[in-house]
Amino acid sequence: MRIAKFTRLGFILAASGSAVGLGNIWKFPYITGEYGGGAFVFVYLITIAFIGITILIAEMLIGYLGEANSVTSFEKLAPKNKKVWKYAGFMAFTGLMILTFYSVVIGWIFNYIFKSFSLPSNIEMAESEFNIFLSTDITTQLAFHTIVFLIIISIVVKGIKAGIEKLNLYLMPILTFILIGIFLYSLNLDGFSKSLEFMFNFNFEKLNSQAILVAVGHAFFTISLGMAAIMTYSASIAKHTNIFRTSLVIVLVDTLIALIAGLALFAFLFEFGSEPSKGPGLVFISLPAIFSEFGIFGNILALSFFISLAFAGLTSAVSLLEPSVQYFIDRFKHSRLKATLLSGGIFYIIGIIALLANTKNFGGNLTFGSKNFFDWIDFITTAFLLPLGGILMAIFVGYIIQKDRVKSLLEPQMGSLIFNIWLFSLRYIVPIALSFVVLNELGVISLNF
Ligand code: PHE
Repeated sequence: MRIAKFTRLGFILAASGSAVGLGNIWKFPYITGEYGGGAFVFVYLITIAFIGITILIAEMLIGYLGEANSVTSFEKLAPKNKKVWKYAGFMAFTGLMILTFYSVVIGWIFNYIFKSFSLPSNIEMAESEFNIFLSTDITTQLAFHTIVFLIIISIVVKGIKAGIEKLNLYLMPILTFILIGIFLYSLNLDGFSKSLEFMFNFNFEKLNSQAILVAVGHAFFTISLGMAAIMTYSASIAKHTNIFRTSLVIVLVDTLIALIAGLALFAFLFEFGSEPSKGPGLVFISLPAIFSEFGIFGNILALSFFISLAFAGLTSAVSLLEPSVQYFIDRFKHSRLKATLLSGGIFYIIGIIALLANTKNFGGNLTFGSKNFFDWIDFITTAFLLPLGGILMAIFVGYIIQKDRVKSLLEPQMGSLIFNIWLFSLRYIVPIALSFVVLNELGVISLNF
């Protein structure tokens, strides 16, 4: 039984804070650019609507009924084979893996907050600055990774209410406000109509199997599904919270922010004839160069953009750490301080390896096959572990937990028609669709078109 519970608004803000992150503002625009725009956005939106919401409800339900860390929740709720099901709860550690590179990227953002005052005057300069920073400037990257680590643990150590809820209470409104401001400004640019066209012109010729897999993986990443973040937060929901309605709010906020960020970013990009397919460097290369066109106003734009990006990152980062902290507290009776230092230490140290993997001096030794260590962690977590977590939750809620418990809680909230559609999707559509994704990543089957 959790003692400190979120307030209703606190939960919505914290869960939306977890969902809205680097995934929305950094990753979504660049993968949309890489996979050609509209058709990719379409698959992403469909996945969110049909798979994302379904699993989000299941994940919230496990936390709400389990009222504990993820391992204990699975163990408690499994009517039999408890010793086996508890292992599903170890998806909590996927968060620590994500946090290794996530923290490094928030560190880059911190660096770019300071760089907002002296923007590169063209794309070539911006590109070489970014590449030099990543490949040679170990000290600065390490310093910022350390600062990010310290901020994250100093929040999580204060716990759900005084730490996480409070952080989101301040940062979420500010970040939304800034992004809406930038979006409104971008409406005046000529590039805006091109941006609309790029994102919503569903040109299916550009769609291939790889794009679909990336879209599905990203749908998970962006709603923070499949690694017990939402589950762990849901263990501290106030009783009688409407899970169904809350899940819709979270998804709506997350999707709107991704679309707003994407539309604004591409509007700026097209205004100055930039390419949308710049990869992970998109917001670090193209944007600073474009903002420099606006003189001093551009400095303010860059500053507010990178601050909002840092805020989005931090509110997600705490949710990546909390599941394992909660695990150590419940299962090993560690104090919150000790649990936070332990989990924090793990991601901090592995994060340093991820950071070094992008550098000139160490990159060679940290590259395995086609990817370096940093990219491997991103790939393994997003494309494989998160969907796997989704399959486990779908099977668990769809087949294992007593149906009466699920039904008596959710049916009054959803109405029986939607409840039945949800259950059908959870039992059949989600496991089958996600199995394709996972099997394809493992190379067991090969979807290729
Ligand atoms: N949803 C976050 C984002 O879009 C990332 C995240 C994934 C956070 C999984 C928590 C759990 O950036």
